[in-house]
Amino acid sequence: MNQRPFHDQHRIPLARPWFDEAEVAAAADVVRSGQLCQGPQTEAFENEFAAKMHVRHAVAVSNGSVALLVALEAMGVSGGDEVIVPDMTFISTVTAAMRLGGTPVFGDITLTDYNLDATLVESLVTPKTKAIVPVHYAGHTADMDVLTEVARRHDLRILEDAAEAHLARYKGGKFAGTIGDAGIFSFTPTKPMTTGEGGMIVTDNDEIAERCRLIRNFGDRGKFDWDAMGFNYRLNEVASAIGRCQLAKLDEIIAMRREKARRYDAGFANCELLHIPWVRGPEDSNYQLYTIRLAMDRLRVSRDAIIAELTERGVSTRLYYPALHRQGVFRQFGPHDDSRFPNAMAFESAALSLPIFSGLTAEEQDYIIDTVPKVLAENCK
Ligand SMILES: Cc1ncc(COP(=O)(O)O)c(C=O)c1O
Repeated sequence: MNQRPFHDQHRIPLARPWFDEAEVAAAADVVRSGQLCQGPQTEAFENEFAAKMHVRHAVAVSNGSVALLVALEAMGVSGGDEVIVPDMTFISTVTAAMRLGGTPVFGDITLTDYNLDATLVESLVTPKTKAIVPVHYAGHTADMDVLTEVARRHDLRILEDAAEAHLARYKGGKFAGTIGDAGIFSFTPTKPMTTGEGGMIVTDNDEIAERCRLIRNFGDRGKFDWDAMGFNYRLNEVASAIGRCQLAKLDEIIAMRREKARRYDAGFANCELLHIPWVRGPEDSNYQLYTIRLAMDRLRVSRDAIIAELTERGVSTRLYYPALHRQGVFRQFGPHDDSRFPNAMAFESAALSLPIFSGLTAEEQDYIIDTVPKVLAENCK
């Protein structure tokens, strides 16, 4: 019998895609067909994605960051416009607007759902504000009612960054990404569904959809009829074919993630050294991430020391994401006052995300549920 400890034999990754023979066959079929771009797979992927999300339009692009860029441009964001963003998100939520000459205006997050604090947003609106880009962090829907009301009052566009939020619902109703003027999704390998690299823009607005399609394809209205400023932001046929297979499994994938999140919740219920994720309702998160916050006032060591210890014991963990206002890329907008972002700062020093994906085994998860509280207890004051 093998007596070596679990972590000598295993390294549990943060995420792992779920592929089977369907994706392999679909990719091979495209290669055999000889049509690798602008073909039937991308069109079918868009139609199927739009139907799944109950929206009029889905526009496939080369990744989630490009989806943000194209959608903001289609909404008319340009030089000098201000765009309100959460202080804690992936970098391209913010740099997409900057690529168009826009200025990011950071808002603090809440320590409940880790999303943009909607109650602060109105105080950030100026005559230059053009759009709000709420992020459904970790796949948990942001407070869209309040944001929609602020946007209506000030005539602002809302682009939902649902890069992580496939099939998450807002208050159990509409899907993330389908509430604002447009929404975007990412299909990188850590996401609930993946095409390797890939992204999708969804909208019910015919004009935004039309502009997204133009911008994605060089601004070309026909054969070399370059009518608008665009570029090549297309998704290729192999990726689209894989995306269709993943979409067909998405309900199952999300159900498995939710089940694993419930298991973590129950497993950590008695651990006072961490905070489990808050959820508004059972379908309001897809648990793209399972992010816990450590009770730093009870620990002798930093969150990074805990990450190092967990790594040592075979559990991959990571901070998603730091407070953005301190990042060097935003230096050109002058210094930001840390005191305006107490929650993003507190999150940055205390949060870590645990492995969660459809193929996480019960044995792996039991090991994590056992190990995390143990490591925290060993480092308790
Ligand atoms: C919140 C958020 N926005 C944007 C992106 C960018 O997507 P992509 O990596 O497909 O460019 C990601 C994922 O990486 C993300 O998590």
